[in-house]
Amino acid sequence: MIYFDHAATTPVDSDVRAAITDTLENVYGNPSSLYQKGREARQLVDEARRILAQSIQAKPADLIITSGATESNNTAIIGTALALKDKGRHLITTAIEHHSVLYPMQYLETLGFEVTYLPVDETGRVTARQVAEALRPDTILVSIIYVNNEVGSINPIEEIGAVVADHSAYFHTDAVQAYGALRIDVEAAHIDMLATTAHKINGPKGIGFLYRRNELHLPNYLHGGTQENDHRAGTENTAYIHGFATAVRKMLQNREADDTHKKALRGYFLSQLQEKNVAYSLNGDSGASVPHILNIWFPFLKSDKFLIQCDLKGIMISAGSACTAGSLEPSHVLTAMFGTEATRIGESVRISFGATNTLEEIAIFVEMIASLQEKYIN
Ligand SMILES: Cc1ncc(COP(=O)(O)O)c(C=O)c1O
Repeated sequence: MIYFDHAATTPVDSDVRAAITDTLENVYGNPSSLYQKGREARQLVDEARRILAQSIQAKPADLIITSGATESNNTAIIGTALALKDKGRHLITTAIEHHSVLYPMQYLETLGFEVTYLPVDETGRVTARQVAEALRPDTILVSIIYVNNEVGSINPIEEIGAVVADHSAYFHTDAVQAYGALRIDVEAAHIDMLATTAHKINGPKGIGFLYRRNELHLPNYLHGGTQENDHRAGTENTAYIHGFATAVRKMLQNREADDTHKKALRGYFLSQLQEKNVAYSLNGDSGASVPHILNIWFPFLKSDKFLIQCDLKGIMISAGSACTAGSLEPSHVLTAMFGTEATRIGESVRISFGATNTLEEIAIFVEMIASLQEKYIN
């Protein structure tokens, strides 16, 4: 089995697994309880919050620990709209957001808000200038994806942050695919809200956080206990919070080595494709993109057939398209980059590398792609 779909999710790191199991076995107290078992759990949660905050140069009190990025994005977008609806009803986002941003935006449209969806160029990016031109006196929120999950393109978040900082609107970013790959500094980039999740950095699924500048008062959305500074009621998931922090600690320690490794994998993959005379074209900007995500057009085979062939050989990749009711829908990201008529939309696949991938795995994969080309080219 060869796993090249780390943008979808990553395997849980063994230290993370050990941290979770140990917490489940030994630290079962409720962090709100005042006796020792409770205090032990509280200590783990507080320590985790410090590490998570440090990973984006934020203050621990500015984090709301959530069930993942879908909850974080929904909370940031719908929460801001509800809090500021009397100030304005205009929001700005891009055409290439993850659905956990696009669908809350569409939901807000049904409530009478107006949303501007910025188009992207063929590299899958927006510019700070586009954002500046779209801002209006009634704009309350700008939400721009940091790194796109299908093509890996990096948006100029610091430049956009500087533009939005001169306006009363809040700036939110979905940083799921940037987290781990890039050094994130919410202060330097003027980010008011940021969403991320543990399962893309070798942590467990179902846990993430929303950073929001503390003075920003989002309405409470889960009512009950006083957890998460009164923002999100419910007993903390101590084991997964500790697991998430363990994954983050390792991510921070290994980031440079990991980056070098993924660049080497990417470089080797592309050079091998050339050596074997495989016809391909990268979707996205090879300069301004994260090394681990490659979206590639192979103009000799439809994406669904390509995926099936890979699956038969035990190689796991994705089409960069949402799989709805068993059928591959055209990717909204590639459509935004190349238009609805582009042939490449139906012939592209996403390959995403992780820390445990090897050059040998890439050699096997490229051999396989070369044989597919030979078989299907005419
Ligand atoms: C860019 C992006 N945003 C949001 C999400 C949703 O994250 P979660 O699975 O934690 O809800 C994902 C994961 O697929 C993603 O890639």
